[in-house]
Amino acid sequence: MDSLENVKIRGLKTEDLDAIVKIDEKVLGENRRSYWEKKLELMNNKTSQISLVAEMGEKVAGFILGDVSGWEFGVPETIGWIDTIGIDPTYQKKGLATALAHELIKHLKAHGVKTIYTLVSWNDWDLLQFFHAMGFTRGDMINLELKI
Ligand SMILES: CC(C)(COP(=O)(O)OP(=O)(O)OC[C@H]1O[C@@H](n2cnc3c(N)ncnc32)[C@H](O)[C@@H]1OP(=O)(O)O)[C@@H](O)C(=O)NCCC(=O)NCCS
Repeated sequence: MDSLENVKIRGLKTEDLDAIVKIDEKVLGENRRSYWEKKLELMNNKTSQISLVAEMGEKVAGFILGDVSGWEFGVPETIGWIDTIGIDPTYQKKGLATALAHELIKHLKAHGVKTIYTLVSWNDWDLLQFFHAMGFTRGDMINLELKI
């Protein structure tokens, strides 16, 4: 069985698109290739993004997309964001997400980030449990919505 010792964490590259689309499809049961193409393209144009993948052997087993705030939503530059995290179900429950998040936090700290925000759906139990285990708590921001 693969152990965390074999994990290599590195920056996400455009060539990781296929692997990310596959992980996303395994997790959500839907192929969202065009969504990911656009998302990675937008990301590549942003200098503030910090995105990482975890490789087990030569295989991309998980990814995390992060960002340093550029005053979006009126929040200062000391805020970092976790946009998305995804681990291939074959490799879940081995500490991969924790390793990716800790590495991202290291990078965010180096950019002067003091607080990290993320948005999680109330129904995403595994993500809520994961962020809780990482020490995340409910923040002061609330999300508002209007159906139109
Ligand atoms: C949530 C997720 C990131 C966790 O990844 P992981 O590598 O399995 O997490 P870790 O092994 O680092 O877990 C760390 C801790 O988080 C908590 N945790 C993680 N997954 C959990 C789950 N499914 N249920 C309950 N707690 C969970 C546990 O406390 C765990 O510690 P433990 O193993 O000592 O109990 C992963 O399940 C995932 O990718 N889910 C889908 C997320 C998603 O929808 N992403 C967008 C599309 S790709």
